[in-house]
Amino acid sequence: MEIFRSKKPFTDYIERQKEMGKRIGFAPTMGALHQGHLSLYEIANKENDLVISSIFVNPTQFNNATDLEKYPRNTDRDINLLDKTGIVDAVYLPEVADLYPEGPKSKSFDFEGLENEMEGKFRPGHFDGVGTVVEELLLQVKPDNAYFGEKDFQQLAIIEKLVEQLKLPIKIHGVAIYREENGLAMSSRNERLSSAQRDAAKVLHETLLKVNDWFRIITIPEINTRVKDIFDDQRGMVLEYFEIADEQTLKETDFFYKDKNYRAFIVVNVGDVRLIDNLHLD
Ligand code: PAF
Repeated sequence: MEIFRSKKPFTDYIERQKEMGKRIGFAPTMGALHQGHLSLYEIANKENDLVISSIFVNPTQFNNATDLEKYPRNTDRDINLLDKTGIVDAVYLPEVADLYPEGPKSKSFDFEGLENEMEGKFRPGHFDGVGTVVEELLLQVKPDNAYFGEKDFQQLAIIEKLVEQLKLPIKIHGVAIYREENGLAMSSRNERLSSAQRDAAKVLHETLLKVNDWFRIITIPEINTRVKDIFDDQRGMVLEYFEIADEQTLKETDFFYKDKNYRAFIVVNVGDVRLIDNLHLD
């Protein structure tokens, strides 16, 4: 596996691969890699000639300085993990100046309202930061295919919109959430949970499964009340939001229309760790 720690050697490498006609599959990360990330590379490996990873903790997408500071970082372990898969051809570890030549500052995007829902309300500026870094990474990596986890479903929708607006010749793929044995969605943030918290956090997925059972049987306001009641009873957990939203517009709904697809979204703070999950309702 090739390791690149700055832009010029990396983009030269990409140019050489492009000249050879290689199809490039790419999944960007912020490190603290887990099996969920590796599942992106497994899929990328099946659909491309070359698999590229990047690790960069993007400062502009953190609206909270403590969250940025506490974000788990272990680059040597990550490189080892990627190398051991035997399917990742190169990892790009850019410096801040490689992605932000004028210093880390977000551009301002209009994602046709997608950025104002859910995470957009609770994390102001977050999607401007994501859009800025993902645009720059896509321009440098020039992938044919790029892979993003459905755990951050709103991010995935926004990146699809970004690529459409910029008319980039890149196919964006959403990859199903990879779960721990107890159902907890895999996340780099899980590393910061104690084992008791990790066990208790299974209630997020359990709740989403219950919501799927209740879906179209009781009303959405009733579902919302039941979810709130579940979390009122959980010690050490605070429900930040729960919403059932249209998968296309990400707008919260109070009523089910027959021909639309819906998804339940949940964010819970377990101690000081913010956990996010979602489930397609069928
Ligand atoms: O999902 C992530 O890890 C990040 O938001 C991403 C897409 C790598 C951009 O920094």
